[in-house]
Amino acid sequence: MSKQSVEEIKDESNYLRGSLPEQLASPVDHFDDDAKQLLKFHGVYQQEDRDSRKERKKQNLGPAYIMMARSRVPGGKLTPEQWLAHDELCDKFANGTFRLTSRQGIQFHGIVKSNLKALIKGLNDSLVSTLAACGDVERNIMCCPAPIRDNPVRDQMQQLTDTLAEHLSPQTPAYHEIWLNGESVIAHHHGEVIEPIYGKHYLPRKFKTAIALPEDNCVDVLTNDLGMVALHKNGQIEGYNIYAGGGMGMTHGMAKTYPRLATPVCFATPDEVIDAATAVVKVQRDYGNREDRKNARLKYTIDRLGQEKFNALVSEYFGRPLPPAHDGGVFGYDNHLGWHQQGDGKWWVGVHVLSGRIADTDRATIRTGLREIIRKYRPSIRITAQQNLLLSDIDPSQRQAIEADLTKNGMGTGRSLSLLVQDTMACVAMPTCGLALAESERALPDILQIVGSEIAKVGLGDADIVLRMTGCPNGCVRPYNSDIGLVGRSPGKYVVFLGGNKLGDALSYQFLDLVPVDQLAAKLHGPLMHYKEHRQEGERFGDFCRRIGKEKMLQIAGESAV
Ligand code: HEM
Ligand code: SF4
Repeated sequence: MSKQSVEEIKDESNYLRGSLPEQLASPVDHFDDDAKQLLKFHGVYQQEDRDSRKERKKQNLGPAYIMMARSRVPGGKLTPEQWLAHDELCDKFANGTFRLTSRQGIQFHGIVKSNLKALIKGLNDSLVSTLAACGDVERNIMCCPAPIRDNPVRDQMQQLTDTLAEHLSPQTPAYHEIWLNGESVIAHHHGEVIEPIYGKHYLPRKFKTAIALPEDNCVDVLTNDLGMVALHKNGQIEGYNIYAGGGMGMTHGMAKTYPRLATPVCFATPDEVIDAATAVVKVQRDYGNREDRKNARLKYTIDRLGQEKFNALVSEYFGRPLPPAHDGGVFGYDNHLGWHQQGDGKWWVGVHVLSGRIADTDRATIRTGLREIIRKYRPSIRITAQQNLLLSDIDPSQRQAIEADLTKNGMGTGRSLSLLVQDTMACVAMPTCGLALAESERALPDILQIVGSEIAKVGLGDADIVLRMTGCPNGCVRPYNSDIGLVGRSPGKYVVFLGGNKLGDALSYQFLDLVPVDQLAAKLHGPLMHYKEHRQEGERFGDFCRRIGKEKMLQIAGESAV
């Protein structure tokens, strides 16, 4: 535990600088507790290799410290050069792999402290920043990544993403000073307001934003602190429905923590949307709970203030009343996998990457294959919110060769995979994440096998069921609004959630606790069978589970309600 609270650390940090420069220069293999908190604002988590923990303890050795660094990639958009930089840097300075994240970013793992600066410098040389990829600030802003060109709506959304990312990025020169040129620039800022939006205490907690379309909520907009849904007509965005207070994290057995979907705040025209978004951020800055980090996310602020009061405050900070959000919510979803025409004569292909892990394994040479394709054909790149990849701007004449290269390297274009596999996600969990209570990414292939076989066994082989799993209740891959959510409880045991849906507009309920992996199929058998026999036309598994309700589902599964 840090000796100081995170609020005190921010207060004394001189705009996120703290003792980072000195500690970075020291030969010690890790940062101290206070610096560790500040590192997050720079996109870095200090972790340890948990696989080696026991063995090292036996040998009286301390933790094997390793760092995770996260690239901030607004809207998941990268140039081929930026991809190739990630590919090269992961070999030189990390563990030889990298990972597409559920919020359209990229993570490196296994970085030793002495390599951290070179890695971050290398990323910045390719114009990718890690600043604010973690920490109590606006994180990576998500946006539907589909490169559809015969309708300008998605380009307009992507432009807003870039503008907003720039606008809400921390302005502190500390990042530059520490990682890039070493010059102390803070001293030159006398009399200037260094952080006009955040102030020196930044936000009470992390803050996440996404931009979606009503007919395509692939970014899971309602799980964000700030969600913007673009309403459009004839290729023009007329304005945005603004939602606030989404968030997935909770703690097992702590009722004051819970997942929540964002709720409507107002409607803003394209001219107003940046100021309206900034107003939401500022209300959270001033009204968020700075005493208790477990109750500090915007979702708790809204529930404490009440929606009406919160909405009124947003209008007040905006400067005049904003009209209510329009009706309609979200009603569609596309994972963008497979081959598609962009509408400008070019194509994109959505490539499935299990758990977003860019690595070469016995089963598939994903890293090598993508490197070769990207070197040769220079496609533009977009990361999806399902940890998958879109290669875009492909000339029709290159389609066949790219398809052959993908197949040769064991990659699917998605549409050939079962629906269960296409949209599944697992967080990274063991061995790097310090918060993991159980395996996630490493267990996913087996879990998919088990659940997939059970789905087939009951005769639902074609069912569109989304399964997401995490190693702890923080919920980094959004398990609480998928059809089936598995949340790590203790090694080999999971809480099973049922009742979310692909649209992302419904929360699931906790179905069973502490289910060992070898009993998972048996526990899901009853609900799946009941679904097969009693579902309504077009009804999804999660929606069915919600309609039937937890108690009935427990009876069906032969379990008693707790
Ligand atoms: C209190 C809540 C949370 C804490 C303390 C937390 C902490 C962490 C940590 C330590 C990691 C790094 C694990 C590693 O890569 O080794 C991580 C990964 C990640 N988290 Fe969280 N997290 C929380 C909630 C969330 C939520 C609710 C989301 C999004 C809905 C999220 C999004 C991510 C993403 C995108 C990654 C990257 C890896 C992936 O895609 O699985 N986190 N989180
Ligand atoms: S869900 Fe938990 S275990 Fe998984 S990455 Fe997030 S914090 Fe770690």
